[in-house]
Amino acid sequence: MGEATHNDAKLVVLGIETSCDETAAAVVERLSEARGRILSNVVRSQLAEHRAYGGVVPEIAARAHVSCLDHIIRTALSEADLGLKDMDGIAATAGPGLIGGVLVGLSTAKALALATGKPLMAVNHLEAHALTPGLTEGLAPPYLLLLVSGGHTQLVAVEGLAHYRRYGTTIDDALGEAFDKTAKLLDLGYPGGPAVEAEARLGDAGRFDFPRPMKGREGCHFSFSGLKTAVRLAAERLQPLKAGDVADICAAFEAAVCDTVSDRVSHAMARFAGEHPGLEDRVLVIAGGVAANRALRARLAETGAAHGFRLIAPPVALCTDNAAMVAWAGAERLAAGLTDPLDVVARARWPLDGEAEAAPFAGVKA
Ligand code: KG4
Ligand code: ZN
Repeated sequence: MGEATHNDAKLVVLGIETSCDETAAAVVERLSEARGRILSNVVRSQLAEHRAYGGVVPEIAARAHVSCLDHIIRTALSEADLGLKDMDGIAATAGPGLIGGVLVGLSTAKALALATGKPLMAVNHLEAHALTPGLTEGLAPPYLLLLVSGGHTQLVAVEGLAHYRRYGTTIDDALGEAFDKTAKLLDLGYPGGPAVEAEARLGDAGRFDFPRPMKGREGCHFSFSGLKTAVRLAAERLQPLKAGDVADICAAFEAAVCDTVSDRVSHAMARFAGEHPGLEDRVLVIAGGVAANRALRARLAETGAAHGFRLIAPPVALCTDNAAMVAWAGAERLAAGLTDPLDVVARARWPLDGEAEAAPFAGVKA
């Protein structure tokens, strides 16, 4: 591949993202390692299609991707003022995610790669989140990543391209899921994170003493189901809920989340610092939809400072699901010569660190 395997290769890549409820396409130019530019970034959210069900319905998501992906790709190319012929490669999320949706995006990318003869990059969605700070902040690994979204809650040491170590994951609910379930219980609509945050700002966090799951325990794993149960019991006890009750529950929930996450992240920072003794610029990156939460950001900035880490949060539009991150991860892979054959498979499950120990009790829902 000559020039393409050179680490400073300049490359333009089309990225496609369809693993959950966003249909997205983007064109990104890689200037050199950890330096890039977004030429276009088109995201169509399916919130309206799923709202009535209070969560993402996989079959509806897959059909919605089918009906609009071609148009979104055309829009991304035209906004970048480029054609398929100008691309150096085609990247798509190949997992983990809702398999019907992943298949839509990956099959489309394969068809484009076959038709144009361009290389295909099958991108791990978690790797795309993990590498985003390279695109947005010019940050090169190693750094510590906290990924908190509707589907994932992970602490990962990003050591380099294709080299990740998972320190911790959730043994039950994802953090975004905990926000969404709390919102549903309190009739705040879907998705719940922003609504819970807005209510929390009006409430008194001291009124309820919710549990801080895993706080003080060794390691970096998370659990949120006990907190969810405590919220449900408090809400049931106070029926019918008044506006002040809802705000106080949200405030107490958010305070419990901040304490728990801060504790888990402290453990991860101590481990990361121990494993990178000579590293001067220690960075904690937060990504995923929950990274939009201001109380959590403020708390993590404090926790980071106490451990000698600076906090980086990419712009919210690039923290949540998008295709610019997929194009960027694809470009980094292409530059390293990591391309995929046209028979690469879509994967519903695809851990970033295949060697990570399973979390104790993982998959057990309370
Ligand atoms: O990364 P994302 O857009 O999609 C995936 O799940 O992949 O994350 C969505 C999640 C939802 O659970 C949503 O409730 C949560 O992020 N979220 C928030 C906030 N904004 C979005 N959670 C807490 N506070 C927020 N401000
Ligand atoms: Zn995501």
